Amino acid sequence: MATEGSNQESRPAWKPGKRDAIFFAVIAAVILLLVLGTSERKTKPVPVDAVHQQATTRAACMSCHDADGVKPRPVGHTQADQCFQCHVQPEGWQGVMKK
Ligand code: HEC
Ligand code: HEC
Repeated sequence: MATEGSNQESRPAWKPGKRDAIFFAVIAAVILLLVLGTSERKTKPVPVDAVHQQATTRAACMSCHDADGVKPRPVGHTQADQCFQCHVQPEGWQGVMKK
């Protein structure tokens, strides 16, 4: 490079162009989505009571939270098995839930 060794002033000044603006807009949008996404994931915690501390299988949970249980999950609720991935596990929970 011809300019090698000369100081920074010989470089053309950086002017933000349209591409830079688009780039920053995309980054800002991604950050915003991530921030909003984490708050969306705060679902209701599992109640801390004897019933919930002693339910240690998915089947136990579903005996009450199935469509015809005492407290059905909302329509369109995920079929995912890991309840505690989204609903905070109750304090003093008495099991190691695998399913
Ligand atoms: C014996 C029935 C029964 C079993 C078993 C049971 N639940 Fe519940 N659950 C309820 C009832 C009734 C409510 C609503 C009243 C309350 O808040 O206690 C409820 C409420 C909830 C709520 C919502 C709390 C709210 O704020 O609306 C979640 C989440 C939940 N249960 C998850 C679970 C999970 C996960 C399991 C298994 C580990 C489970 N439940 C087992 C009866 C049960
Ligand atoms: C992928 C995340 C996710 C998983 C896994 C999940 N849930 Fe939920 N659940 C939600 C969301 C979101 C809601 C909507 C209400 C809220 O904000 O809690 C909900 C609502 C509920 C409610 C109704 C709460 C109310 O307000 O009346 C119950 C009961 C419930 N879930 C039980 C379960 C059980 C039992 C399991 C495991 C078999 C489970 N959920 C797994 C995300 C999840």
